[in-house]
Amino acid sequence: MGLPPTVDGTVRRITVLGTGYLGTVHAAWLAETGFDVLGMDADSAKVGALSRGVLPFYEPGLEPLLRSGLKSGRLSFTTSYAEAAAFGDLHFICVGTPQRAGSYRADLSQLHSCLRALGTLLDRPCLVVGKSTVPVGTAELLAERLSVISPAGAACELAWNPEFLREGHAVHDTMRPDRIVAGVTSARAEAVLRQVYAKQIAAGAPFLVTDLATAEMVKVAANAFLATKISFINAMAEVCEATNADVTMLSEALGLDPRIGAAALQPGLGFGGGCLPKDIRAFMARAEELGVEQALSFLREVDAINMRRRARMVDLARELAGGSLRGQTIGVLGVAFKPDSDDIRDSPALDVAATMHRLGAAVTVYDPVALVNARKAHAELNYAGSALEAVTSADVTLLLTEWQEFRDADPEELGGVVAKRNIVDGRNALDPDPWRDAGWTYRALGRPY
Ligand code: UGA
Repeated sequence: MGLPPTVDGTVRRITVLGTGYLGTVHAAWLAETGFDVLGMDADSAKVGALSRGVLPFYEPGLEPLLRSGLKSGRLSFTTSYAEAAAFGDLHFICVGTPQRAGSYRADLSQLHSCLRALGTLLDRPCLVVGKSTVPVGTAELLAERLSVISPAGAACELAWNPEFLREGHAVHDTMRPDRIVAGVTSARAEAVLRQVYAKQIAAGAPFLVTDLATAEMVKVAANAFLATKISFINAMAEVCEATNADVTMLSEALGLDPRIGAAALQPGLGFGGGCLPKDIRAFMARAEELGVEQALSFLREVDAINMRRRARMVDLARELAGGSLRGQTIGVLGVAFKPDSDDIRDSPALDVAATMHRLGAAVTVYDPVALVNARKAHAELNYAGSALEAVTSADVTLLLTEWQEFRDADPEELGGVVAKRNIVDGRNALDPDPWRDAGWTYRALGRPY
């Protein structure tokens, strides 16, 4: 089957459908690499902002890349599927696949509607490449559907090329990926992807060619492994708390074993965000559909350990508050699901803050970038313009997202405005000694006191 992306076989014009974190970084990086890129999103406000060089979310280092792409003329944005179909020989699909409401399964509605809208307009040979995280088996179904609905028929081919970038490090991870996984069904599709990633491959990034199902599996298995590692160390934190051992030293010692490694071994409030929690749940749901639920039953425990950390955080705060949170003033540092991000999807920090409020505390939160998003989701909380303001008159201070600004906080300065020098370090981000020396009662998850 012929699949010449252009007459001379060279890819030049690429579309990226879905301009969230993944799609925007991918589009801006492709333009930087020298391709002509059209980003497409159904959300006109988002497309308007991106076209003006304004990021609709926080991601360090991305705005300059976006602006440089716009300035070069190689990057533009549209809301039109017709324009996207006419523009590109290669189409990357980067739409979201969130958790379905009331279920563990992934909601693939954006993916299906994107493929339908684009596919029916594809009237010449092209390659459609999925980057969204999907349940294994999805790509094969989409490939069949694409060849049926597209006017070009079987000359429209589908490949799967999962993405492993982390929010907050998205530009770095895109430019210097650990690996590139190309799930393909033809040598031609492989050649196209090799051309797209030529720079990273030349710089040493391993390029793994797989079938569609394996490519889908790599992504969900990687996130399941990361989640398991985080919950493993948090399970150890529970045992440490029962034995007066120190989980931070344990983590350091374990991480020095090269077979274990220090990454994803930071104990604390656990994982949140738009990926790990929903991906392990969708993975379990898919395993059940496939009749192999037993193989992934451990992920239920991974999820349960993760959620228990939030409850433990509330318990520690309650203990420091003298047994009840009712009427207590709580200062919260950090609401993003992790530092260097304004993402509050399934944020452990915001969950804890909202629970404190439900239990009768007056909760004031501060985060360097995530306050706008947090306020939209939890109008009942109080919002402060600085860390100092958030903890003013606090009976208990909680560090819930380990922004550098909070790591650098001065115990004396904060101590000067709080009502009581009580702090719970939910991310094991602080050195307890200077805090205790300054008269604070310091508590942390998995550490002795
Ligand atoms: C995660 C994966 O790390 C990426 O490889 C993947 O591409 C991405 O999901 C995705 O599927 O799109 P991300 O959600 O940006 O990336 O964040 P991580 O850095 O993995 O952190 C996830 C959560 O785990 C955060 O809440 C973080 O605070 C927590 N975490 C992380 C820990 O509690 N301990 C750790 O040691 C590491």
